[in-house]
Amino acid sequence: MRGNEAIDSKPQLEAEIRRRIADEGGISFADYMALCLYHPEYGYYMAPRTRIGKEGDFFTSSSVHSLFGRLLARQLRQMGEILGKDDFTIAEQGAGEGHLCLDILDALAEEDPEFYGRVRYLLVEISPDNRSRQRQRLDRHLPRVDWCRLEDLQGMEGCVLSNELIDAFPVHLVEKRDGELLEVYVTESAGELTEELRPPATEALADHFHWLGVAPVEGNRAEVNLEARRWVAEVGRLLGRGFVLTVDYGYPAAELYAPFRRNGTLMCYHRHCSSDDPYRNPGAQDITAHVDFTALEREGEGVGLVPLYFGEQYRFLMGLGFVEALIELQARESDPKRAQALRLTLKNLIMPDGGMGETFKVLVQGKGVGRPDLLCARALRDLPLPPLGM
Ligand SMILES: C[S@@+](CC[C@H](N)C(=O)[O-])C[C@H]1O[C@@H](n2cnc3c(N)ncnc32)[C@H](O)[C@@H]1O
Repeated sequence: MRGNEAIDSKPQLEAEIRRRIADEGGISFADYMALCLYHPEYGYYMAPRTRIGKEGDFFTSSSVHSLFGRLLARQLRQMGEILGKDDFTIAEQGAGEGHLCLDILDALAEEDPEFYGRVRYLLVEISPDNRSRQRQRLDRHLPRVDWCRLEDLQGMEGCVLSNELIDAFPVHLVEKRDGELLEVYVTESAGELTEELRPPATEALADHFHWLGVAPVEGNRAEVNLEARRWVAEVGRLLGRGFVLTVDYGYPAAELYAPFRRNGTLMCYHRHCSSDDPYRNPGAQDITAHVDFTALEREGEGVGLVPLYFGEQYRFLMGLGFVEALIELQARESDPKRAQALRLTLKNLIMPDGGMGETFKVLVQGKGVGRPDLLCARALRDLPLPPLGM
């Protein structure tokens, strides 16, 4: 499918949201976001739509270039060696259109066919539309790939992988007013969807900030991703032995809830335009919030997940050999214009100063694997120098 012109308005979803608001006297922002993204028929991720890439609403690292997946494949191979078993399971949750899975399996098939033959790649995907896009894209790897539910991973040994999954979980919105923590509810006024600040319906939000030891300051708005905590706790319990590798944009809690971040991090994406208005075109735009990596680490530790690595995407990719891989790819490109275009494309993956290289972080947690020296953690000073003449 090309553009999304015919599906940029979802009157049925808006009617459903208004009905829920009328029935319940307002709904929490988290419930509103869940309806917008995951309503079974009309939700942004559930209904047919080109979401990722030039024709869609946003790019992800895996849609920028296959090198992202190729480098990740190196880390997965090392994880396979560390586990030292015959089979290695990669379980990717929220794989979108399957770009990353394709690039990882292509790289493994090419660079280590023996390991490729021992890999089972499971996809956990909520969206029927994405499941069918994944099946099409992964055509040539179908003998290695399967789809399952998260709970089916019970006892798995391998790596649970995700790229931009957690930022797509529905979040609660809170504001600190006159010393009190209030929650954003969505209501209707004069025919418009509008916000109302109310005492939270559950203690869970205040408890969350006590547990974290950080909270938004007076006057600030912030998001609380309780679903992220439930998710990592479940993944940690399900994993028999192995790793959880999470890539997403976000910060440690102290930075996420820093006083200067007055309006939080909630953002919407529609055809490569960003906006901070989640009430525009419900169901036709992506809504996301930055991830709290402290909460993921801490909740994980409670279920036996040991934090092994946390760093910016550029460091992670450098550790896995980004520079040598770039040089190799360039050497294969005889046309100087195309070589330059390649450099510019790849630069996106490691751009600092608000680019993907810095905004995106990678967290690796381990269970039953000790504290191995991961390839991705190689310090820049320890990396081999590129050949002269570059
Ligand atoms: C922003 S997209 C990321 C796509 C992909 N990982 C990439 O990098 O191109 C979020 C993905 O997570 C999926 N998703 C969201 N919540 C999920 C859940 N609870 N279980 C499984 N998949 C989920 C969405 O359907 C979508 O495929």
